[in-house]
Amino acid sequence: MKPSNASSLVKYAIRDVVLEAKKEEAKGKKVIYLNIGDPCKYDFSPPQAIVDGVKEALDGPYKGYAFSIGDDELRAEIGKIEGCSPNHVFITAGLSEGVDFGTRILLDEGDSILLPNPTYPLYPTKVDVLGAEALYYDCDENWVPEPDDIRKRINEKTKGIVVINPNNPTGAVYPLKVLQEIAGIAAENDLVVLADEVYDHILLDDVEMHKMKDVAKDVPVFSGNSLSKNYFYPGARIGYTAIHNDVQGEFRDAFTRMCNQRLSVNWEFQRGALAGYKAGLGFLKPKLEKLRKRRDIVCKRIGEIPGLSVCAPKAAAYGFVKVEGYKGTDWEFVYSLLREEGVLVVPVSAFYKNHPEELYFRTTLLPDEETLELAMGKLEKFMKAKV
Ligand SMILES: Cc1ncc(COP(=O)(O)O)c(C=O)c1O
Repeated sequence: MKPSNASSLVKYAIRDVVLEAKKEEAKGKKVIYLNIGDPCKYDFSPPQAIVDGVKEALDGPYKGYAFSIGDDELRAEIGKIEGCSPNHVFITAGLSEGVDFGTRILLDEGDSILLPNPTYPLYPTKVDVLGAEALYYDCDENWVPEPDDIRKRINEKTKGIVVINPNNPTGAVYPLKVLQEIAGIAAENDLVVLADEVYDHILLDDVEMHKMKDVAKDVPVFSGNSLSKNYFYPGARIGYTAIHNDVQGEFRDAFTRMCNQRLSVNWEFQRGALAGYKAGLGFLKPKLEKLRKRRDIVCKRIGEIPGLSVCAPKAAAYGFVKVEGYKGTDWEFVYSLLREEGVLVVPVSAFYKNHPEELYFRTTLLPDEETLELAMGKLEKFMKAKV
């Protein structure tokens, strides 16, 4: 007996690198983890409204299965935020489950889907497991998608286009004009747009965030979001997908079937999410200020280190750092940095495809200033020895 071939296609470098870090720790090395985007691992915490909402729900009538597509009141509240009917809102276990369902209802074996390059690693994994093909579209030097490249890559089996805005790993926020062009391409080619907007309020500069559902009016748009980033509560595992422009209701029905087969998402945390969405985003300002300072430290220090450069992230919680002059692969870079300096980052191949000659790594911006300074010092020592 053997596990399935599909299971062997599941890759998740952001977590995989941790195994190696644990081995180093077992040998007594202190490791600074710059690989993860979990704000609660650092000094960020969710708004009190959600925590109180969960506590209150624990004493309430929420012990059974929730409605499989999600709590009615929560879907109604999200319907207001998304400007759609609650019947087109689906609560999932984080946006990760929404991505799983979204790709499964869109793609059959042999179909293809456009993914941004660089991309968030969950997407290629889902596409691979389905036996579908990922078509990676390139971005310019500011990590903004290039519409001409998107056009070029579409084939007769292409069903959708994933737009991650703001982007993980690059922190880019896409201009309206580019989103309009993407919407036009989707309409011309009959593509569904999967809009991953999980960082839409984590804006570190004075940039405008345009939601895809406000731009693409002629094609179905799956708007994905969650409590994990905007509300600093990844452990709640509450996300949603809101489906827009689903004229026939076919995608609504397919998404409902996906939700039905796993019965429900934790109801008490859905009630907490309801309290959080009702209370709003007033809590965000000091958190963003803190994150902005950390972003500035990382960008300044990276700029001072020989062989490293970064296009300053305008949003989200990561820097996608370019490495020049290093002799070796991305995994060799990551493991040497870990073993020699005890700093853990994520290798470029997890995100960036078709450009084997380019070396990058992703660092989180989330740790406190002292830890970031320490990590940047170690990175500097490493780079000075290598380039
Ligand atoms: C771009 C992007 N999409 C989706 C997710 C999944 O988030 P969730 O915790 O809601 O499953 C993440 C998590 O890091 C992400 O960065």
